[in-house]
Amino acid sequence: MFHKKTVKDFAVAGKQVIVRTMLNVPIENNQVGDEMRLRAALPTIEYLLEQNAAVILISHHSTKGQSLEPVAPVLARLLGKPVGFVKDCLGPEAESAVHDIKRGEVLMLENLRFHPEEEANDDGFARTLASYGELYVNDDFTTCHREHASMVGVPKYLPAVAGLEVALEVETISGALENPKRPLVAVTGGAKISTKIPIVSYLLSKVDALFVGGAMANTFLAAQGKPVGKSLVEPDQYETAKKILADAAAQGRTVILPIDVVVARTLDKPENIHTIPLDQIEQWDIIADIGPLSVKQLASVVKPGGSVVWNGPVGVAEQEVFSHGTRGVAELIIASGAYSIVGGGDTADFVDGAGLAEKFSFVSTGGGASLELMSGKPLPAVEVLLDK
Ligand code: 3PG
Repeated sequence: MFHKKTVKDFAVAGKQVIVRTMLNVPIENNQVGDEMRLRAALPTIEYLLEQNAAVILISHHSTKGQSLEPVAPVLARLLGKPVGFVKDCLGPEAESAVHDIKRGEVLMLENLRFHPEEEANDDGFARTLASYGELYVNDDFTTCHREHASMVGVPKYLPAVAGLEVALEVETISGALENPKRPLVAVTGGAKISTKIPIVSYLLSKVDALFVGGAMANTFLAAQGKPVGKSLVEPDQYETAKKILADAAAQGRTVILPIDVVVARTLDKPENIHTIPLDQIEQWDIIADIGPLSVKQLASVVKPGGSVVWNGPVGVAEQEVFSHGTRGVAELIIASGAYSIVGGGDTADFVDGAGLAEKFSFVSTGGGASLELMSGKPLPAVEVLLDK
């Protein structure tokens, strides 16, 4: 259950509404790449327009100095109506555009991070943004872990509710962990165990089985005294890894680690790549992916009627030669018929790039934010919204 008010719990008809939305999309040579986030932003904007509200969109771009201007025509095409753009979110031009906007119109303001006050959560900056409307809607799930002025500052000065995308993301991800279809299996990967400890520990308290891949698995294997050659490991995390495994065993939860791996001598110019059982690793080998037998182990725990939560590629998936394990995991989850949630960031990029995104039950738009939610942490920009 989502415990915050959404845009549908508020009388928005005819109101001037500030929507903190997610326009942080790939832009190259002034062209927008993947439009997934923009499509996810549409339902809230469309709902507000149906209610004859005036919609003022504010957002950021992560790339320093990147203008949001190229996003306006793409959003206009998706919405099927004009989207005005102002080259600064502060100053006379923004003020007059905000003053002149009519009901049923959409106006987009320039990248909030052009002003350092945004990331500094400056109170005056938040108050100015708040002066642009009568209601604030947070519909940028991807940034809900950031305590920035537009995320947690503006709600101090206006009634603040969740947009439909924020509500959907939080409800879906939290719901999958709090009220799971069992068996619930978590698949985790990615590079460093030290940054993943919160998610691994939290997921272990919820799941029936945890599948570990990626460089993170190396530290678990090495902590058990298994050979990992020259692979990336974090020796200072061995004790933590052992404790995680011991706790899981004591609670009767299954932890699955790789049993075969794809190795190379170097990752930069990979040659002599081969797939071997774990015990045949040579001292110079670097583990770059999991092998097919490791992927198959997942089939013993993922069941139709159950669910899977996936966060992190299980190999160096950005390199095609080392992406087969991650692809195998994706295909196995899809074929299982289990309810499936893919965390954002690298994992979402992978399934999207492989043309598989549509086949999962839910793919999150947010990397850092979905990681926080899957680690059981509250999202500050959701906490500040009005309770139901
Ligand atoms: C994201 O892409 O993860 C969000 O939009 C947040 O962007 P940031 O990492 O630059 O704060």
